[in-house]
Amino acid sequence: MFGFLLSLFALQFALEIGTQTSESHPSITWELNGARQSGQIVIDSNWRWLHDSGTTNCYDGNTWSSDLCPDPEKCSQNCYLEGADYSGTYGISASGSQLTLGFVTKGSYSTNIGSRVYLLKDENTYQMFKLKNKEFTFTVDVSNLPCGLNGALYFVAMPSDGGKAKYPLAKPGAKYGMGYCDAQCPHDMKFINGEANVLDWKPQSNDENAGTGRYGTCCTEMDIWEANSQATAYTVHACSKNARCEGTECGDDSASQRYNGICDKDGCDFNSWRWGNKTFFGPGLTVDSSKPVTVVTQFIGDPLTEIRRIWVQGGKVIQNSFTNVSGITSVDSITNTFCDESKVATGDTNDFKAKGGMSGFSKALDTEVVLVLSLWDDHTANMLWLDSTYPSNSTAIGATRGPCATSSGDPKNVESASANASVKFSDIKFGAFDSTY
Ligand SMILES: *[C@@H]1O[C@H](CO)[C@@H](O)[C@H](O)[C@H]1NC(C)=O
Ligand SMILES: *[C@@H]1O[C@H](CO)[C@@H](O)[C@H](O)[C@H]1NC(C)=O
Ligand SMILES: *[C@@H]1O[C@H](CO)[C@@H](O)[C@H](O)[C@H]1NC(C)=O
Ligand SMILES: *[C@@H]1O[C@H](CO)[C@@H](O)[C@H](O)[C@H]1NC(C)=O
Repeated sequence: MFGFLLSLFALQFALEIGTQTSESHPSITWELNGARQSGQIVIDSNWRWLHDSGTTNCYDGNTWSSDLCPDPEKCSQNCYLEGADYSGTYGISASGSQLTLGFVTKGSYSTNIGSRVYLLKDENTYQMFKLKNKEFTFTVDVSNLPCGLNGALYFVAMPSDGGKAKYPLAKPGAKYGMGYCDAQCPHDMKFINGEANVLDWKPQSNDENAGTGRYGTCCTEMDIWEANSQATAYTVHACSKNARCEGTECGDDSASQRYNGICDKDGCDFNSWRWGNKTFFGPGLTVDSSKPVTVVTQFIGDPLTEIRRIWVQGGKVIQNSFTNVSGITSVDSITNTFCDESKVATGDTNDFKAKGGMSGFSKALDTEVVLVLSLWDDHTANMLWLDSTYPSNSTAIGATRGPCATSSGDPKNVESASANASVKFSDIKFGAFDSTY
């Protein structure tokens, strides 16, 4: 009897799966070494309805229910993570090899802003990628993404099962999009290692859907693509380890500890505009953002020494732009030398080097990584770091990153004026160099 009660308790302790909406992942095809793969898309757990055994919210807007979630344990005991209505609630649809993420979706119960999804190889397992000496290619249409939005495609070192095996509390696992982490060590995750992040939770004053808890979750990140129709960058972020963080190791700006944490939050980025070429990427430019474009990224060497970009549009291969900024050797790819020189030229802290540089990042890539696709607006810096001048009053080298006004990108305005914005990703391919385009 006692044993039975104990196991019942253990069962009840983990976060459970809700039964109001069955989880039905959108299907998507992609290519691995030339062979067609059938995968699935799963939305991150943070976007999902979290409720008690009935329909009372465990988390509402940007606060936790004090009855259901007075502490992490009770929260896991009391709460259920719900299945997703991908198109109706979240504005996500897939067809063939194409995925569309809509920005603002008015559902029957709520208005959803943006999304973050992962590629699954089967219902319960993220597709893992080993990037070194390989090439990743996809096609993207950012024509319907104005200033202030970011249609992103990137890799992070999440566990393939969403943390389920290591952390029994994370029972819903990858099937429900658990386990996210990135190089910003986000504090806004409702669950980290399956544990509710309710301690010290503070609702974000300018975001009615988000807040921050005591813990952050840090891991290596490779931003293949952060972009809207006006600007784009690819960025490598090194982290000294992949782990849940607390205090100094989170590198919080609010505590002026940005460069004291586990991860290089700035990263080393290649943005054609920022590095001197304002006519390369944009509507009607060399790479025409008013039309779909195929983006090839090559991870050269093991150890990794270089990350190269090649573009394909209208059947033509377009070589990447070369940097054209004083103090930076003219190059068209990311290497340690480029990162070192660009940090000196801009006067930025070289946290990439401090967190291991390319060799540290290369070691981190021995861990396989998960593919993330997202659409978001920026409640911290209005996306000015991507598409405008940042800091907005700076005239320093590297401060200008794109043509957007420094007054653009306020989420309030973006969400009302550009509710219909969307990004389309398609034709994901992974394989040997020069085999995917
Ligand atoms: C920008 O890139 C294009 C295409 O590579 C090139 O023709 C042009 O000269 C570059 N402009 C500058 C200012 O570097
Ligand atoms: C670099 O930019 C200057 C203008 O700032 C331009 O005159 C020059 O042609 C560019 N160099 C290259 C190699 O594109
Ligand atoms: C730029 O703005 C920041 C923050 O608003 C301010 O502290 C700083 O003095 C300004 N710098 C210049 C050069 O205007
Ligand atoms: C968004 O699209 C809907 C339907 O296509 C249309 O009725 C609405 O006016 C659009 N809103 C904006 C802000 O463009």
